[in-house]
Amino acid sequence: MLNSDPPDHGRLRRLVNRAFTARHVERLRPRISAITAGLLDDLPARSEVDLLASFAFPLPITVICELLGIPTSERDDFREWSTTVVSNTAIPDVMYAHATAMVGYFRALLAAKRHEPTDDLLSALITARDSDDSLSEDELVSMAFLLLVAGHETTVNLIASGVLALLLNPRELDRLRADPSLIGGAVEELLRYTAPVSHATFRCAAEPVEIGGVWIGRGDAVFVALSGANRDPARFGDPEGLNLGRDSSGHLAFGHGIHYCVGAPLARLEAEIAFAALLDRFAGIRLAVPAESLRWRPSTLIHSLEALPVRLEPASPAGAAEPAGGIPVRWDA
Ligand code: HEM
Repeated sequence: MLNSDPPDHGRLRRLVNRAFTARHVERLRPRISAITAGLLDDLPARSEVDLLASFAFPLPITVICELLGIPTSERDDFREWSTTVVSNTAIPDVMYAHATAMVGYFRALLAAKRHEPTDDLLSALITARDSDDSLSEDELVSMAFLLLVAGHETTVNLIASGVLALLLNPRELDRLRADPSLIGGAVEELLRYTAPVSHATFRCAAEPVEIGGVWIGRGDAVFVALSGANRDPARFGDPEGLNLGRDSSGHLAFGHGIHYCVGAPLARLEAEIAFAALLDRFAGIRLAVPAESLRWRPSTLIHSLEALPVRLEPASPAGAAEPAGGIPVRWDA
């Protein structure tokens, strides 16, 4: 789908579009909230924890696995394969081995589901494949591959980089804590500011065109910097500043045009639930290491931290007496 043009693109996108509409996705709210709460229950208070590995990653991977009907038991394998697929530094042999492992896994899973259908998106796609020939076998495997990779490699970054952005901008964090109704706009601003997908996938110009004084010939490869567009001073005032109250509409974090992210409503919902629940559960969050020591994964496609070590200070239960020694320390400054 991501590498196809009309009419193929429309045919493929129609098959999955309905599963990701805002209305359909809203029905997942209780389940996403429950998964989020379970993950937060497991986070140790007061000792160092990698928020990326323990929260930002398992939330979207669990949701997309449940939606597609993939057992979560293999999710550490997926993480390894998928990290390689979006990496810039994987050696070709490893890239080939991991991409082949993922395709092999899907071929086996789809064969099992064809034999014994389950109530999930992959089984629905198999039915589409087998009943009206609207999908070839290779397209079916590619679709599963794309949905799994796109469904978690991206949202994990919005959550992890979003938390980091809030920790480095404590006034904005306080603003969100003071007014939780800001959450919808906050997610849009964090999408603009963190650009979880930093570049669109490679495109080739179908027609010659001049953009911003640059001539692009027919067939030329184009690599669109979404993160650059999101910090365009001609579009956003003070683009390098995080401002949760601004109107961030028009950001390009989900791309643009026919390939605009099909999972945007799901990503928005997951992020809203994740940020709100995390801030509600922990009165103080602070980085456990100096910000300068945080490392980013080598990828021109994905803008992703390798880890986000933090210390968490739980909120006192409503109505509980303050502990001796006064109000709990706020760690988010
Ligand atoms: C914060 C989270 C997300 C971000 C920032 C994001 C970003 C993007 C971007 C920039 C594109 C366009 C790429 C291009 O034009 O080359 C895209 C496409 C796509 N995204 Fe997302 N995405 C996110 C979450 C998701 C989720 C949760 C899913 C769920 C399955 C998903 C599925 C897809 C698919 C299938 C496409 C291809 C659409 C097409 O070709 O028509 N994404 N995404």
